[in-house]
Amino acid sequence: MNNTQSTELIFELSRTGRRCHIPPQSDVPEVPLDNLLPAKYRAQNAPPLPEVAEIDLIRHFNNLSTRNMCIDTNFYPLGSCTMKYNPKRHERWSADPAFAGLHPLQDEETCQGMLEVLWEMQNFLKEISGLPAISLQPAAGAHGELTALYVAAAYFRDKGMTQRKKVLVPDSAHGTNPASAALAGFESVTVKGNAKGLVDLDDFRRKLDETTAVFMITNPNTLGLFEEQIQTITQEVHAAGGLVYLDGANMNAILGITRPGDFGADMQHYNVHKTFTGPHGGGGPGSGPITVRDFLAPYLPTPIVAKKDNKFFLDYNYPKSIGRVRSFFGNVGILFRGWAYIRTLGAKGLKEVSQHAVLNANYLLSRIKGVYDVPHGDRCMHEFVASCKTLRREKKISAMDVCKGLLDYGFHAPTVYFPLVVPEALMMEPTETESKETLDRFAEALIEIASQEATYLQHAPHTLPISRPDVVKADREPILRWTAKV
Ligand SMILES: Cc1ncc(COP(=O)(O)O)c(C=O)c1O
Repeated sequence: MNNTQSTELIFELSRTGRRCHIPPQSDVPEVPLDNLLPAKYRAQNAPPLPEVAEIDLIRHFNNLSTRNMCIDTNFYPLGSCTMKYNPKRHERWSADPAFAGLHPLQDEETCQGMLEVLWEMQNFLKEISGLPAISLQPAAGAHGELTALYVAAAYFRDKGMTQRKKVLVPDSAHGTNPASAALAGFESVTVKGNAKGLVDLDDFRRKLDETTAVFMITNPNTLGLFEEQIQTITQEVHAAGGLVYLDGANMNAILGITRPGDFGADMQHYNVHKTFTGPHGGGGPGSGPITVRDFLAPYLPTPIVAKKDNKFFLDYNYPKSIGRVRSFFGNVGILFRGWAYIRTLGAKGLKEVSQHAVLNANYLLSRIKGVYDVPHGDRCMHEFVASCKTLRREKKISAMDVCKGLLDYGFHAPTVYFPLVVPEALMMEPTETESKETLDRFAEALIEIASQEATYLQHAPHTLPISRPDVVKADREPILRWTAKV
């Protein structure tokens, strides 16, 4: 950042009487205020709005707009979060008033176009996962997990299998998995990983029994590894009478290459905002549709978009449905962008997305391995987890120091200290949208940072307005609004 930029708030820039624009004297006769609004309803004092000149106002907001790290300006290798570039044409199309101007309570007859988009999206997602039934409603990945677990609970209740209370979750799973299991009323049981970073089959077999409802598995897992034993696992869960849930957050690695339905999953969620693009900074907006096997379809949330006599309609005819999990039809704006992405790329293009995502991750892995530890494997899927364990021991440089150092090079930091099973973790996901040149610049920055002095890095970033905030305090006691000094 340019050090001469003001860091003051717009309120602090305020000087009494300063204006952006002074309107000419009105030639319309003034009406007494009391005629418009009685005094008892009027504020006693004018609101403390900032008083600034136009140039200060413009500079203020322009400078603020460059403070935000975003995919349009910087490489964003945030593992697990899949921050891929969102093509601008999808933004344009989704903003078209013909779609954006629709009201969800409009008569079905008058929004056939949007219903067709949603219907096609349902079909695309069913085909990609290899599972024949779908709900577009969940608002994000974690919400998809929760919805699918509600569906599983309804299924077991309906079949009188109320003893199935356990949900098995590998220790490398995203924290939302055990949280969703607990919220849906199940007991979450952790399954250990083995030295290769995959599910430990012995521990899995010890914990799998007639009380198991669901095994939640992420494949590729959060270490960026394909669970090679997936078919053995799914067969054994089924033999024990349980269901397999596939956390589909990592679909970016396997589009058009393999399908969860084919390797034994009974339910899965998508993160449309990750796999099929959609701007997802700041925690949203997202979309987490779920696909399920036929025998689970009766329990899905409604409505589901259906087609009859060449007309699209909202089908509520699911008497065993768990009910709505979100208003209207889900996050239609993100579903629309996902649909545009799939339509643009087609089957061949989607497969290439995964091939390039995997190639890019492996290229980055091979460039930094040796300088950083990469504890699990020489090869990865679309992401991998490096570690600063040796750097920390030998040079006192932590994963956090490396992340802060990267900010001085203009890069967003990778995901840090996740997954928990890797100490000093740096989880990197370059995505298919980055060029070799960007990956080289990033690898070189990482290599250079590892050669820096710990005392220098411990104070990084050196070029940003804030260096090392107290992140716990900022999280627990956020100051989100300015208060006027009186
Ligand atoms: C493996 C995995 N599962 C689930 C989720 C939750 O998805 P969402 O953030 O859309 O709720 C994430 C999010 O990063 C994830 O990486």
